[in-house]
Amino acid sequence: MNVGIGSFFASSASRDVPIDDAVPWAGTETVYVQSGRQALRLLSERLWSQGYRRLVLPGHLCASMIEPFDTRDWTVRFSPMTDRLHLDPGSYDALCVDRPDETVAVVAEYFGRNVTEETTAAVARWKDEGVAVIDDRTHNLFDRRRSEATYAFGSLRKLLPVGDGCFLQGLGDVPAFGQQSVDPSRTSWAAMDLKAAGTQPGSLYETYRAAESEFGAATEPAAMSSRSLESLRHLDFSAMSEARSFNFATLLEGVQHLAVVNDDLDGGTPAYLVLRTPEAEALQAMLAERGVYCPIHWPRPLRVPPQLPWRDDLISVPIDHRYGRQEMEYIGQTLNEVAKRAD
Ligand SMILES: Cc1ncc(COP(=O)(O)O)c(C=O)c1O
Repeated sequence: MNVGIGSFFASSASRDVPIDDAVPWAGTETVYVQSGRQALRLLSERLWSQGYRRLVLPGHLCASMIEPFDTRDWTVRFSPMTDRLHLDPGSYDALCVDRPDETVAVVAEYFGRNVTEETTAAVARWKDEGVAVIDDRTHNLFDRRRSEATYAFGSLRKLLPVGDGCFLQGLGDVPAFGQQSVDPSRTSWAAMDLKAAGTQPGSLYETYRAAESEFGAATEPAAMSSRSLESLRHLDFSAMSEARSFNFATLLEGVQHLAVVNDDLDGGTPAYLVLRTPEAEALQAMLAERGVYCPIHWPRPLRVPPQLPWRDDLISVPIDHRYGRQEMEYIGQTLNEVAKRAD
């Protein structure tokens, strides 16, 4: 078995003929920026200038979903999520009710699960009441249904082999982008090229980390790289989605004794197979020793208030289109062995 399952994507040789399987999020005017943080920064500035002052965020989230709002004095509140980390419309209701026409609500359904009917109805209701709703589709890139939110965005490089990129819908215009001091797309693509060339871990991960730190610094909205834009035309979204679903089902059969968080996909394309385990970080380290790299979604951001309960018992196992039955069986056996040893 080859080592190195998971981790970031390698670039692939571009095929001559684009596939032009329409991107799943097609259908409304779409603007492309380089990262999810840039999309949120753009929305934060725009909504602030329109008089919005209150921000409701999901009670479980990545630090990079909070940071873009830091340049303005938003009154931030977090909406607790359900035990399985679904959005809880009732808790959003309570936080939006006060001054809906000053409220921005960021909603997200994580791990590839389809948005529930209850949430879809709640989003429509909040919009009617004047709330500006932002739908974070980063884990739902393969969902072809239109979002009901005022704005929708999805960071692309987590689930797709592109160096940078994030789609953003709902603006109604194409913003003019300024010059950036840092361009993370070049370094990010460089890391993917190094990986494709079989470069050994040292400089590979150094370049990847440099790219991630540049994404942290490049907060001003800028256009997605032309290389990513072109790559989207060569991706077979249907095949990638099928591979993910197949791998998820295969791995699910192999890990029967572990608690799976997102087996309630409701027809959605899984982003990862997310497991609940009391020693998530220890398990992550043990799996990495065996060549399986699993992200944790997410370490508790510093900005989250201490009274908000946090789920720190999750680990996300890769099931993407790079892999098939053989890798899923290897991961399943490895997980079972490691979990047994940790008992
Ligand atoms: C759900 C979610 N939304 C938004 C972001 C921010 O995306 P980016 O890293 O492209 O800024 C992330 C990053 O991890 C994320 O996981």
